[in-house]
Amino acid sequence: MNSDIDKILFNKEEISKKTQKLANQIDCDYGDEEIVTVGILRGALFFMADLLRILNVKLLTDVMVVSSYDESDIVSSGKVIIQKDVSIDIRNRDVLIVEDIVDTGLTLYHVKQHLLDNGAKSVKICTLLDKPTNRKVEITSDYNGFIIPNNFVVGYGLGYANRYRNLDYIGILKPEVYQSKENES
Ligand code: PRP
Ligand code: MN
Repeated sequence: MNSDIDKILFNKEEISKKTQKLANQIDCDYGDEEIVTVGILRGALFFMADLLRILNVKLLTDVMVVSSYDESDIVSSGKVIIQKDVSIDIRNRDVLIVEDIVDTGLTLYHVKQHLLDNGAKSVKICTLLDKPTNRKVEITSDYNGFIIPNNFVVGYGLGYANRYRNLDYIGILKPEVYQSKENES
């Protein structure tokens, strides 16, 4: 285990099992419809890759790059910036957003609204993690994997200052890792 990690919350097998469960629900709900999946990078990188490969529903794949956190911060800046928009024409399409985590909800709130404003017929949300404690806007995930406590989690796509994203598990970051950074600046 990486020495900056306090505790593993979900290991590779648990993530994979949950992802399969979510895929089954999505397949079941959409049936024969063709959907557009929009993965929200960078955090959703691995979840999106793993989920999409086991979905049976017909789909077009796109990504957005969205960020709301300043690089070395553990709290959301509250400003949601779309660094790259969808490239596919989503008008009259059923869109499924694939995201790693819903925390304050600001990212998904803005992204969902943006996709609806651009003419999507429907927009649903699939998240691997939900941290309900810090919610600032009302937004619910249609398909969620795990509800987690109010700890700063990294791994499986989730990063802190862009580190730890490549861990194949999701773990709680030791507070001293970000506390020592705060003291430096
Ligand atoms: C993280 C995470 C979600 C968002 C959730 O992304 O990947 O997209 O924050 O937080 P919220 O519900 O409070 O908006 P971040 O902006 O850090 O960028 P990243 O995906 O590149 O890590
Ligand atoms: Mn993100």
